[in-house]
Amino acid sequence: MTETPRRPDREAVRVDLVKTACVRPGRIEDAARMGAVFVETYRAAHRGQVPDDLIECRTPEQSARGWERALRELAATTDPDWCIYVAQDEREQVVGIAVGRLARPPHDGADANDVRDGRSPDHPTTPDPLGDGEVNLLYVQPAHQGRGHGRHLVHAVARFLAARGVQRLVIGVLAINAPARGFYERIGGRLIGYRPYEEDGHVMEEAVYAWDLDRLLDTVSVQ
Ligand SMILES: CC(C)(COP(=O)(O)OP(=O)(O)OC[C@H]1O[C@@H](n2cnc3c(N)ncnc32)[C@H](O)[C@@H]1OP(=O)(O)O)[C@@H](O)C(=O)NCCC(=O)NCCS
Repeated sequence: MTETPRRPDREAVRVDLVKTACVRPGRIEDAARMGAVFVETYRAAHRGQVPDDLIECRTPEQSARGWERALRELAATTDPDWCIYVAQDEREQVVGIAVGRLARPPHDGADANDVRDGRSPDHPTTPDPLGDGEVNLLYVQPAHQGRGHGRHLVHAVARFLAARGVQRLVIGVLAINAPARGFYERIGGRLIGYRPYEEDGHVMEEAVYAWDLDRLLDTVSVQ
């Protein structure tokens, strides 16, 4: 009689995947791979969410050059107020990217300082530029999604910001990006409002989620 192969226990597989998820600061030599991951993921996630020219104008090579510039700048900065983390798979291949930074002062762009309360758009809620930090970018390659990389990347940025005295993490996500919003809600994000988001002359709407950093990092320590 042939023995039925044992099916792996789903929870054990999940724990194993979470254990192998590894997040570390980005390095200059990651730039080419980051360009490829970013463009593949951007196109897969945002086609139909953003105008087509924003999808078509991106190439892995151009993106890699941008990552290389950013990584060089970061490496040359003492005590930076921003960070780049990558997630790698079990073969140490980069499969995810996160960028975070302390909130900019109110005069410097729209970022965290332009949040509008969803119910009263004429009354901006003004986050404290000293108390807030943001995840500005978060992308996990489609074939590697659902394995804990996104959560680990958010936690890495959260730890970076908490070490600099930040109390609240905010993340803006295209309002139309329902899957990513589902992810942010799943990891405890609270919707605090909406704000305009501009990319290459196209103005879109972002939903903004917030986390109390102490509470977010408490949930990490009990995982
Ligand atoms: C959004 C994204 C970063 C999430 O990363 P990920 O590695 O797939 O997510 P994780 O595996 O870490 O998921 C963490 C938890 O969220 C849940 N989750 C993931 N996607 C979800 C979704 N669409 N809806 C609801 N829950 C979701 C997971 O099931 C998991 O739950 P659990 O471990 O508590 O059971 C990733 O899917 C991605 O890169 N998407 C495309 C790009 C994008 O839209 N980025 C955001 C731009 S702001």
